[in-house]
Amino acid sequence: VPAGRCVVAVDGPSGSGKSTVSRRLAVSLGAHYLDTGAMYRALTWAVLRSGVDLGDTQSVAKVAGEVDLRIGTDPQGYAVTADGVHVEKEIRGAEVTGAVSAVAAVPAVRELLVARQRQLIAHAGRIVVEGRDIASVVAPDADLKVYLTASEAARARRRSAEDAADVAATAADLARRDKIDSTRTVNPLRQAADAVELDTTDLGIDEVVARLRELLTERGVA
Ligand code: DC
Repeated sequence: VPAGRCVVAVDGPSGSGKSTVSRRLAVSLGAHYLDTGAMYRALTWAVLRSGVDLGDTQSVAKVAGEVDLRIGTDPQGYAVTADGVHVEKEIRGAEVTGAVSAVAAVPAVRELLVARQRQLIAHAGRIVVEGRDIASVVAPDADLKVYLTASEAARARRRSAEDAADVAATAADLARRDKIDSTRTVNPLRQAADAVELDTTDLGIDEVVARLRELLTERGVA
């Protein structure tokens, strides 16, 4: 694996296979991995803990600005801490999942995290970054931009298996979050004009990763 700079942006809705594919691709490239969703989730955990009203965007922004948020970039397992507290488990819980879209819609929160994400990317050099606005906002100069999609049924099935939750309830929650994430005014989820779209409904993880490796080779980056 060559040692040069290589930034891969992976965007898409939840359940599209982003996390699994991004982590595997990072391992296969010997690159770092950044889960930007985990950053929004960790801030949400801190906001919930502070007790401020989620609708009070000024207070939410204030809490976000004061949290000491740290995230690792090892694709084989990364630590996430907020004010020194390990929150890897908590950020996957129903409470955080239910509140994260609201927190991620606050412009000051996005500004803060986008700046942090750019620093982490610059520092890493070789990195696979997953999120919603990576190709369009965080890393518009990425070497490869991928937009992963999957049918609503496939996405609900995957997420409910991950969370050991009911498929119908998961489908409803996904639809609710997609709506907030794609209609918010600041940096909504959308496909960048120069992103390669891959529908993962009928593809295995290995097939998707292999396809991305091919695209990188075609571009001469890895
Ligand atoms: O990918 P995920 O489910 O862990 O993301 C959690 C939430 O964070 C999701 O509702 C959308 C938001 N998010 C975002 O707005 N921008 C990103 N770059 C990543 C996640």
